[in-house]
Amino acid sequence: MAKPKNEQYEVDPCDGLPRGVVGAWSYDKHQRLKRYVYASHGARRKYRDDYGRETSFVDLYCGPGRARIRGSVPEEVIDGSALAAARIASTCTPYSRYLVGDLDPDLVMACSTRLRSLGISAIDPLVGPANKTANMAASKLDPRGLHFALVDPFNADLPFATIEALGSLAKMDQLIHFSIMDLRRNFQRMKDDGRLDSLAPGWQLAIKSTMSIDTQRMAIFAYWRSLLEKRLRYTVSDKIVKVRGPQGAEIYWLVLASRHPLAGRLWKEVSDLSPTPQREMFG
Ligand SMILES: C[S@@+](CC[C@H](N)C(=O)[O-])C[C@H]1O[C@@H](n2cnc3c(N)ncnc32)[C@H](O)[C@@H]1O
Repeated sequence: MAKPKNEQYEVDPCDGLPRGVVGAWSYDKHQRLKRYVYASHGARRKYRDDYGRETSFVDLYCGPGRARIRGSVPEEVIDGSALAAARIASTCTPYSRYLVGDLDPDLVMACSTRLRSLGISAIDPLVGPANKTANMAASKLDPRGLHFALVDPFNADLPFATIEALGSLAKMDQLIHFSIMDLRRNFQRMKDDGRLDSLAPGWQLAIKSTMSIDTQRMAIFAYWRSLLEKRLRYTVSDKIVKVRGPQGAEIYWLVLASRHPLAGRLWKEVSDLSPTPQREMFG
């Protein structure tokens, strides 16, 4: 379950806006995101320059746009996902629009303000649950444009309807945070409170009561993946990044869903963070 708000946020002395307090693994998530945003810039340029189309970055769980790494000494403060994407895109081919949403209006405001401070003006702030704002986002975007969404909830409260609404745009690639830890820890609760129905509608088809919990959660993931592939016609990259916490337990998986083979190829190339000379430029 999500932590209480007061443990997750604090005031940033630099600008008086809220900033997150996050685990060190967020840094790697943003590194992968930045590398993907950079690697995919040629496709954005083509859509912008050759086809005259819009390219957008969509982040419906955007948070405040800045975070301190919990326990870092000296203190390390990093961009949030939308800022990280915008900053790296500005060095190659910027997105033409940024759609940033969150359940919490203060966080949407903070993220939008920080994006503006980078000189970005084409920002659509969206307040509300992602399964609602996803429909708003889809209706605002160029249906023939090239779009990229980060779908990054805290936990497995990830309605499939959100992914489906974003996926109604033909060229919407999605990088999805799938909370494998939550699925293990809260499996029974998720069954009881309907979150599992929302995450993977029809999941009952995938499991048998004789399966162990771990086998059940793997079966749920495989079923969720099949929904992306069969219902939404996405290709899910085999390169699923398994993000671990300090104790070594898997916290979440990063899953790339796309409808063009280039996206999967790029993700395969950039998601491995073993040191490369290129890494230096992402700071
Ligand atoms: C993991 S944080 C996002 C971090 C951000 N993407 C980053 O990397 O900087 C998840 C965010 O989702 C928001 N949130 C929680 N439930 C939500 C929902 N149903 N719809 C939209 N946002 C939600 C929280 O307020 C929080 O800011």
